[in-house]
Amino acid sequence: MKPSVPWSSVWITGASSGIGRDVAVKLAGRGARVTVSARSADALSMLAAQQSRITAAPLDVTDRAATGLVVAGIESAQGPLDLVILNAGVWQPMGASGFDASKSAQSMAVNYIGIANALEHVIPLMVARGRGHIALTASVAGYRGLPQASAYAPSKAAVISLAETLKPDLARKGVTVSVINPGFVDTPMTEVNHFPMPFLMPADKAADAIIAGLEKGKFDIVFPWQMAALMKFARVLPYPAYFWFARTFMTPKKPQG
Ligand SMILES: NC(=O)c1ccc[n+]([C@@H]2O[C@H](COP(=O)([O-])OP(=O)(O)OC[C@H]3O[C@@H](n4cnc5c(N)ncnc54)[C@H](OP(=O)(O)O)[C@@H]3O)[C@@H](O)[C@H]2O)c1
Repeated sequence: MKPSVPWSSVWITGASSGIGRDVAVKLAGRGARVTVSARSADALSMLAAQQSRITAAPLDVTDRAATGLVVAGIESAQGPLDLVILNAGVWQPMGASGFDASKSAQSMAVNYIGIANALEHVIPLMVARGRGHIALTASVAGYRGLPQASAYAPSKAAVISLAETLKPDLARKGVTVSVINPGFVDTPMTEVNHFPMPFLMPADKAADAIIAGLEKGKFDIVFPWQMAALMKFARVLPYPAYFWFARTFMTPKKPQG
């Protein structure tokens, strides 16, 4: 089957559940060969059993050497990678009370260093070929420091900054860079949240938005539009106005764990 998307070989990290899983299923359904990674080998095997164009490659993205082996394995088994979606992530609520540096370290290790570990191996291959598309999953939480996201938001801000630093350089070498900034999406990650999640979106709609943005070669793939508008507005607010808004509407009145 000739793919109806511009990519033949795709690698997606964080694809055992949620957004990554739905993107994998949709891309495979449109004819791409998709390799899926995450730590849960069983969930990946079940996914691969459902769709012949999906291959499981279990990986902990914090393991730099293992990441290199997975990239080399995909290239030799599936051919040159056309699209890489670095989507693995963890979310742990953390505010000023109960600040725990181990949560900061884990967020940075998975959400940011996990991406760097893959880029180290993927960039040289795509640059040598003069083509390819790299997408980094961040979050609208990376646009502005959000209360209760003291571990998560800084790691996502780092991913947005990383994408911005790579984009102009890699564009000159024929490689496209995108950053995916979801608002609230209904996945196992958000099931733990006990606060209102405005404009919560189903994961399969998020996957559609991601694939549409990637097909257009967009840099900033942000959805849903209501959350995009709200957070882009928050991003340009001067500090006094932003902190008043955050204190009034986003800070819990009682301390949380
Ligand atoms: N849901 C939202 O509202 C939302 C909003 C903004 C951004 N995002 C971002 O979207 C991405 C996908 O999240 P999701 O909502 O789909 O959540 P999810 O269902 O919890 O998916 C997270 C994925 O990351 C994988 N993962 C976690 N730690 C890993 C590690 N060390 N190595 C390899 N894989 C690892 C998980 O699999 P294993 O546990 O099996 O390893 C899982 O496949 C994340 O980067 C998240 O930050 C989500």
